Amino acid sequence: MSYNDQNQPYEDPYAGYQEQDPNASQGQAEGYTGYEQQNYANQGYDNSGYQQQAAPNQRQRPVLHQLQRIQSGIPGFDQIVGGGLIRDRVYLLAGPAGAGKTIFSSQFIYNGLRQFNENGVYVVLEETPQQLRENLYNSFSWDIGSYEDNGNMVVLDAISSRLGLSSDERFVVPRPFTLEALLYEIQTAIQTVNARRVVIDSLDAMSLELTQVDLRSLIQRLTMILKSFGCTTLLVSGQTETSLQSGRKAVEEYVVDGMIRLHHTLEESLSGETTLEQNAVQEQSLEDNSFAMKVRSRKIEIPKMRGSQHSNHLHPFIIGEQGIEIKSEPEVTKRMRRAIFKAKQVD
Ligand SMILES: Nc1ncnc2c1ncn2[C@@H]1O[C@H](COP(=O)(O)OP(=O)(O)OP(=O)(O)O)[C@@H](O)[C@H]1O
Ligand SMILES: [Mg+2]
Repeated sequence: MSYNDQNQPYEDPYAGYQEQDPNASQGQAEGYTGYEQQNYANQGYDNSGYQQQAAPNQRQRPVLHQLQRIQSGIPGFDQIVGGGLIRDRVYLLAGPAGAGKTIFSSQFIYNGLRQFNENGVYVVLEETPQQLRENLYNSFSWDIGSYEDNGNMVVLDAISSRLGLSSDERFVVPRPFTLEALLYEIQTAIQTVNARRVVIDSLDAMSLELTQVDLRSLIQRLTMILKSFGCTTLLVSGQTETSLQSGRKAVEEYVVDGMIRLHHTLEESLSGETTLEQNAVQEQSLEDNSFAMKVRSRKIEIPKMRGSQHSNHLHPFIIGEQGIEIKSEPEVTKRMRRAIFKAKQVD
C-alpha cells in the first residue's frame, strides 16, 4: 500500500480508527485486539457476581515457555546480553548525539535482512529516508534501497509530515502529523513486509509536545502493538545521563523490556599513557608530553534487560568499515591503568 496522499484534499482517515488485529490478514503472532471496556460493576463490596475459584493445587498452571533469542547482527553484542535479544520485545537504545544510535539500529535491521532473512521497518523522524540511505551507503556500503525494492524493508517517512513538508517517499505519514496517523502507518508498514524487526528513530522526535503521562501511555500502546505483531524493536532515545542525574528516570525506561546505552567521550589514548610511563622512567617532565593524544572513545552498557542475564560492565566498541563492533571483554578503566603505572614506578 502506498501512503503518499499529500496532495489530496485532507480527510481524516483515522476518525474512528482502531488498532488492527494482525491475525486478520497475516495469521501470525498473537494479535492486539485493542482496548476492551471492562465491566467493573461487581467489584467492591457487592459479591453477588463472585464465583468460587478452584483451590490453588487444582488450578492449571500456565505453561512456561523458553524465551527465544534473536541474533542482533552486531558483532560482540549478543555475548553481552546473554546470547541475543529476546524476541518480540521492545528495547530502548539511548545515548547522546553522535553516539552511534542510528548506525546500531540500521545494522540491526540491515544484518537482520542480510544474515537472518528477517524483514524490517525503519521509522525515520529525525532525518529523511534518502539521507539515511545515503549515509549508510557512503559509510558502510549498505544498500538498504535494494531491500526496499524487493519488498523486504520499509523506511517510513515520518519526518516530512512532522515538519509540514511534502514527500516523494512510498511510505509516508500523511499531513497533518498526528500520533494516531503515525501508529496506523507503522502497523501498515509492518504488515506490508511482514516485519520481524522495527526501529523507531527517534522517540524524542515522536513525543516532543507530550506530557510524561501521555508519553508513558503512548509508549505502552506502541509496545503492545509491536509485540502483538511479533516484532523485536529498538526505540531510539537521545536521553543523556545528565538528564538522568536529575534523580528521575525517564518514563520510557520503566516501560521497555531492556535498555542499551551508548556513550562517547574524548579520552587520553592508551599510547598516551605509555608515553607517560616512559617519561617517568626517564625522569623527564610529565607535562611536556603527557595527555597530548586524545581519541574519541565509544562504549556500550546494558543497564536493564528483563528475563536475561547480561553484562554489568562498560564495553568498548568501534565504528569500522562494517559498522559497529563490540569488544565483549569489559573496559579496563583509566584508574586501573594508572594503578598499573604506579606499580611500575615503584618497581
Ligand atoms: N564510516 C564510519 N567510520 C567511523 N565512524 C563513523 C563512520 N560513519 C559515521 N561515523 C561516526 O558515527 C557518528 C554518527 O553516528 P550516528 O549517526 O549513529 O549517531 P546518533 O547517535 O544517531 O546521533 P544523533 O543523535 O545525532 O542522531 C558520526 O558522527 C561519526 O563520528
Ligand atoms: Mg541518529
